[in-house]
Amino acid sequence: MQVAGSHGLFPAVVAGSNKLRQLETKRGSSHGHVGVRATKPAGSFATTFFATGLCLCGQAWRKRHGAKGKRNAKANVRMSSFYEVTAREDCAFGASVRGFSVKEALDNPEAVEQIKADMYKHRLLIFHGQTDLMPEDHIKLSEKLGSLDHILHRPHPKSPDPRLLRVANDDREGFMSVGTSGWHVDGVMLQAPFAAQTMHHLHAIPGGDTRFLGMKELFENMDEELRGLCERLWFVSGVGEDLQQGEGQMSLLPLVYNHPFTGEKTMCFHLGQKYCLGFIEEVPLNAFMEAFANVMTRGDGLLKGARARLQKLLVDPEGNSPSQFRFLPALPVQEFLQKAIDGLDPEIQRQAITTVEWQRGDLALIDNMALAHVPAPGTQTLPLVSGLRVFHRTTMVNPEAVPRNVRGAAAVLLAGPRRDGPTSKEALQDPAAMRDILRAVMAATPLNVDELGGDQRGGDLQLPKNMSAREEALRTLEEASQPLDLLKVVDAELEAADGDSREVFSKTLKRLMREYHPDRNLTRQKEIVPIFRYLWRLHKEQGRASSAMSATKDRVVDRLRKKASKISVAVGEGMAG
Ligand SMILES: [Fe+2]
Repeated sequence: MQVAGSHGLFPAVVAGSNKLRQLETKRGSSHGHVGVRATKPAGSFATTFFATGLCLCGQAWRKRHGAKGKRNAKANVRMSSFYEVTAREDCAFGASVRGFSVKEALDNPEAVEQIKADMYKHRLLIFHGQTDLMPEDHIKLSEKLGSLDHILHRPHPKSPDPRLLRVANDDREGFMSVGTSGWHVDGVMLQAPFAAQTMHHLHAIPGGDTRFLGMKELFENMDEELRGLCERLWFVSGVGEDLQQGEGQMSLLPLVYNHPFTGEKTMCFHLGQKYCLGFIEEVPLNAFMEAFANVMTRGDGLLKGARARLQKLLVDPEGNSPSQFRFLPALPVQEFLQKAIDGLDPEIQRQAITTVEWQRGDLALIDNMALAHVPAPGTQTLPLVSGLRVFHRTTMVNPEAVPRNVRGAAAVLLAGPRRDGPTSKEALQDPAAMRDILRAVMAATPLNVDELGGDQRGGDLQLPKNMSAREEALRTLEEASQPLDLLKVVDAELEAADGDSREVFSKTLKRLMREYHPDRNLTRQKEIVPIFRYLWRLHKEQGRASSAMSATKDRVVDRLRKKASKISVAVGEGMAG
């Protein structure tokens, strides 16, 4: 991957830190903090973060900057040698700067280092009044925060540079409805979320706000059990027209990880349905329960294959990986995360969530790994009502910033053999692993509309309630421009069986469901899923829902885990007695 200049973001920050350390040494600083920090090994996040001078106490700071370095009377204001930073009140993150031209500072390496350090310190740093910043300046600044060389650029005809994502409330001016589907970090389809993001507001409107959420604060305020669960989860995402045919790429990202630059706990998720294929849970089982689970699930090649792939891919630095994995559908886990956000105590919510009311000329630098964001509904108000809203966004990757889960296992990016769709250069070309894991994740996603309140494989198509099973299949196929031949074949078979006994009809229905199961017809999902749903609904209407069919391996493992906990309680009690 091509990285801005000769460094990725992390080495660049370290280089800057070293410069500052040299500066301190030259000036003969004898302050204890600085001396201690200077002895930390170069390259650790602590060195990177602290040695930039951000954590210098007032005494050392005044030594460096003299009278100009005096702290403002307000506790939330800090002067640097370049600008004054005002932290957001109440919120645990966020700061703003006024009266400073970013454009003029771009050729000053020390000022740029200060800007980068302040972005990572405050997570959200807004420079107001940057109306003179041109698109080329915006790109120049962005290149100092990471590399713009990634596959997720989406050029709008009005964008002055393909690397600037132009967002607007008028599709002639820029893309609309960007990121409105839920709280998210940007870049979940890559091996790591973007290391940094910038937004430059060319036109702002009342109500066109963005909300930001501190991932550290969200995680720390979950109860212990939920934190434990989150730490075992991997977020699965993908990009490409036909992932099952190997077009595009699929990423496995730890839901919880330590921020690679600040070391703080953080999270990675997207709560929009289209952006999450599902979740994988690492299941720690002891050897006895593992053997039992293997016997119970013998013959299930689908899960077994995916599990074997994951055991090879999700290894920690010592080469170990969990023996069991559970595959979870996207929606319930996403809903649980949404509830965790909504359920934050109001006081905590003030610290964890902030709303930014943008003004024209605002330039925001965002630590995308530390914060989730979502646009307010008012961002979509049409120009006729609120005026024009336009901003340019850049997103930067950093190859040094690959997240690792609590065990130390690194995020994985898989790709198939076809290169027609978007595929990152870093993606591991392992089509078999991608197919196996994808199949297991998709198999965990119920087709039963009643089970999750909606068919997650059905896309955005909204169907009226009380529509007959056949009509629903017909409408869905037509909407997706799929042939109707298969529906006609199924109809003919069902019609022939309908004249016989209920048992014959039921047998025919079951045979068709096996034959046209989506997991057996991976190349024709758009055609097969509506047909299978049709058959499933008929089957349910028959009142013969088979308990054996619904007893998936996940549930088997779940039952085993419950049994295991009972056994361990019993053993524990025995030992205590
Ligand atoms: Fe976004």
